[in-house]
Amino acid sequence: MITKPKGTLDIYGTEAKKWKFIEEVVDSVMEKYNYGYIRTPLFESTELFHRGVGESSDIVTKETYDFKDRGDRNITLRPEGTAGVVRSFIEHKMYGDNLPVKVYYNGTMYRYERPQSGRDRELTQFGMEVLGTDDPISDAEVISLAVNIYKMLGLKDIKVEINTLGNKESRDNYRKALIEYFKPHMSELCEDCNNRLEVNPLRILDCKVDADNEILKNAPTTIDYLDEESKERFEKVKELLDILEVTYEVNPKIVRGLDYYNHTVFEIKAGNTNLSIGGGGRYNGLVENLGGPSTPCIGFASGIGRVLLALEEQEVTLPIKDELDAFIMYVNEDEQKYSAYLSNELRMAGFSVDTEYTGRSLKAQFRQADRLKSKLLIILNSEDLNNGEVLVKNNKTKTEEKVMLEYLIYYLDENLVEEEDTLDLSKFGHKHECDCDDNCNCEDHCECDDCKCEDHCECENCKCKDDENE
Ligand code: HAM
Repeated sequence: MITKPKGTLDIYGTEAKKWKFIEEVVDSVMEKYNYGYIRTPLFESTELFHRGVGESSDIVTKETYDFKDRGDRNITLRPEGTAGVVRSFIEHKMYGDNLPVKVYYNGTMYRYERPQSGRDRELTQFGMEVLGTDDPISDAEVISLAVNIYKMLGLKDIKVEINTLGNKESRDNYRKALIEYFKPHMSELCEDCNNRLEVNPLRILDCKVDADNEILKNAPTTIDYLDEESKERFEKVKELLDILEVTYEVNPKIVRGLDYYNHTVFEIKAGNTNLSIGGGGRYNGLVENLGGPSTPCIGFASGIGRVLLALEEQEVTLPIKDELDAFIMYVNEDEQKYSAYLSNELRMAGFSVDTEYTGRSLKAQFRQADRLKSKLLIILNSEDLNNGEVLVKNNKTKTEEKVMLEYLIYYLDENLVEEEDTLDLSKFGHKHECDCDDNCNCEDHCECDDCKCEDHCECENCKCKDDENE
């Protein structure tokens, strides 16, 4: 048997519906923020990622899928989406009067990582990039947009960690300080870290091998090496995050795994999952580095697989459509022909309809209708059809009645609960936010009906009604 390659996923059934649901929410929220959809190639020239993502990043040195095509070109399957978007921005001269360009994407990326839960070799990311503004409002908006998508999906306990790498001068000073700090300790660090010292010492800080090493834990932090301009900028970003009601923590250890960042960097986790569900930051030098005009940018990306793991961990039920409107049942060949006609009519009228394809007995067709979670059963028999009617059974209440064929569509309309075609975000997303009198700003004190009492922590500040009732 040929099995799927290591680190890839087959997504089907209910899982596929959840996947699509997340993508629909992303589309819908991005539209509200006026981001345009962009699709760039799955493979690009290898040089793009070396110059873009960076020669010293793990992603480029160890994780890319590189190959030569039949024309002897060096090609790489994209490990992330930012470099391709920037290449496209430059190639199509999207810069001009209409800056910033705000785009979002959703697609597969490839990283040759050691596969484990939440770490795949073929992964799907949704992400967005804002090209052409350095205003801290764009930093805050991108972080807030990411958080809002997670909230819309029903995720709780969203932890945003932010840091700043500062401008080029600050980053250079910090780099020097790290080299001085690490030099005497190099024999205690792994081989990769030794290689990273001169190329990019920042990368030592998020080494997976030496993560628990005290030397890394006590390393100088970016914040101490910021110049006034970078400090002020970071303060502004934080102030704007407060205005947008984004709860965050400053974590001076966050440097991110790609080389192109400066100023704001951030990672987002949810609940007890250790892996980040999303991350991003500002990359003001990348467009120029890839041959375009100096263009400040910021962006973010999130792995859909990891978001689903977080949703599962928090037992969030996504409002996916998992039911069929009607299942058409029959026994003989004439009825089968009518079933083919009727299925077509009803589907074109907007109902989700299925029928029998494998010659099951009537009894087995009832079981099949249950498996497909059909709300109504339309049972055909030649005698009824000759009288211009069909038997319709409600699969929940088990009531049944004969319905004239000419009224069948009206009957289905009346007997099936209307479902919204368009995604109404307010229906399933809510803000789980603190409403307690002390304004303690903790998300656990949400008073919405959906919140269980357990969610309301036992701290003294909690004054919410549910706790009083308890
Ligand atoms: P990243 O942190 O490398 O950033 O990836 C973003 C997200 O992709 C991660 O937080 C995680 O959810 C998901 N992810 C990464 N690697 C894997 C994997 N092996 N398996 C499953 N999920 C994974 C970037 O890719 C940047 N391009 C983000 C960005 C956009 N920065 C600026 N603009």
